[in-house]
Amino acid sequence: MPVQQVTVPDIGGAEGAEVIELLVAVGDQVALDQGLIVLESDKASMEIPSTVAGTVVELLVKQGDHLAEGAPLAMIEVAEVAVDQSAAPVASAAPAAPVEPLTEQATSAVVVPPEVPPAVPPVVSQVVAPPEVTASPAPTMVADTALVAASAPVPVADTRETVAVYAGPAVRKLAREFGVQLGQVDGSGPQGRILKEDLQQFVQGLIGVRVKTSQTKSLGEEQPEVSTLTPNIDFSKFGEIEITQRSKLDKLTAANMHRSWLNVPHVTQFDEADITDLEEFRAGLKAEAERRDTRLTPLPFLLKACAVALRDNPRLNSALTRGGEDLVHKKYIHIGMAVDTPAGLMVPVIRDVDRKTIWALAREVAELAVKARERKLSPAQLQGGCFTISSLGNIGGSGFTPIVNTPEVGILGVSKAAIKPVWNGKEFTPRTLLPLALSYDHRVVNGGDGGRFLTQLVALLSDIRQLSL
Ligand code: COA
Repeated sequence: MPVQQVTVPDIGGAEGAEVIELLVAVGDQVALDQGLIVLESDKASMEIPSTVAGTVVELLVKQGDHLAEGAPLAMIEVAEVAVDQSAAPVASAAPAAPVEPLTEQATSAVVVPPEVPPAVPPVVSQVVAPPEVTASPAPTMVADTALVAASAPVPVADTRETVAVYAGPAVRKLAREFGVQLGQVDGSGPQGRILKEDLQQFVQGLIGVRVKTSQTKSLGEEQPEVSTLTPNIDFSKFGEIEITQRSKLDKLTAANMHRSWLNVPHVTQFDEADITDLEEFRAGLKAEAERRDTRLTPLPFLLKACAVALRDNPRLNSALTRGGEDLVHKKYIHIGMAVDTPAGLMVPVIRDVDRKTIWALAREVAELAVKARERKLSPAQLQGGCFTISSLGNIGGSGFTPIVNTPEVGILGVSKAAIKPVWNGKEFTPRTLLPLALSYDHRVVNGGDGGRFLTQLVALLSDIRQLSL
């Protein structure tokens, strides 16, 4: 039977993503699309699927290797059926499916990629538009940093590792380090596979504290720390409770928020835009929107107005680089929009907002929101943002202070529009006012820049004819 080489597909432009877990071993039978390894970059962890069904005859990578797209992963003796033509036969050793370069949400000038999903998309298990490492020291507590009480009892090691369980080598290794028999752990992965989190939760349950699950250090090597931020309180002493495990996305978002909160000197400015005319215009387009099979909310207008204000106030469209020595001026205007999903907050990015029509933006907002909620966004769709809009307009509230989505330097928080009496010089008239809050990184954006940006935004939204100028 032919042996084919499986290579790393498009992984969102990540260079040197680390192999954090091998999901198969030599001799294993694998199905088409079954995960072979887990790669982790600073943006995501991805399960890399097999492009063929068959038997693993050789693994070409090991845990800790750093891989880029096209790197050989495994040799698989192909089963007679379900051969995927995109896998490379050994003889020709053809590269993986063609890919497009992806932008980095980072500091250098970039090539804008077409948003075409890769032929064999990696399964992205956690993605958050990540903050760039900033000049300030990293916070002491990050997403996977956890704490072990010095006196916490560690379960007794049992070296009789069970083979009946479904778990990757990394999890097995960790289990050995923790002295846990995997047979005791419930797996929450596909086909009951035991994930790192399952093991972590099991150990937490045993010792009642959070533990560090670094791939590189064993429990014994970790220096116990005491958290001053999240004291471990037994809330069950006060009433009935239920503990659920946080999703990776949730934890990554929390870490990114925390890092931004600690490292970025935030200023927030507030204003209200009179969107009475915009709302009238929008209401008049309802039938047209239906005809186009879309919905026209205020968001596309906000995106367009922000694009104009970003163009005219380029400080808001920049980023720090080289530890704050230089400023990157972006010549493109890509805007992220925060989407509230059951799995957590996601920020898909709409590219070249300045060059798109309101209808095109309306369609893209709707499509990206659906994809975000179904967790079908590609890494490319989560990268490259210059600025973010977080709209809680549909949810409510009269104002909030959004946290800058670093390395971006500005974010607009939009609250619920309300009809209020406005004095026109002679009388109070009912006007629809939209509360806006602009947060920015005060290392880059001064009060003047922020004030001019917000004032222009308010003017544009109050008279949307100016958007076409
Ligand atoms: N004031 C009053 N009504 C508003 C509004 C505002 N600021 N913004 C939207 N609405 C209305 C819309 O017009 C629509 O009503 P309509 O159909 O009668 O016109 C309704 O609210 C629903 O809008 P929504 O489905 O939310 O669409 P959207 O285009 O405004 O927003 C998302 C799309 C994806 C951004 C939004 O659904 C979402 O997820 N927001 C949450 C973002 C978040 O969690 N931010 C916090 C980050 S920490």
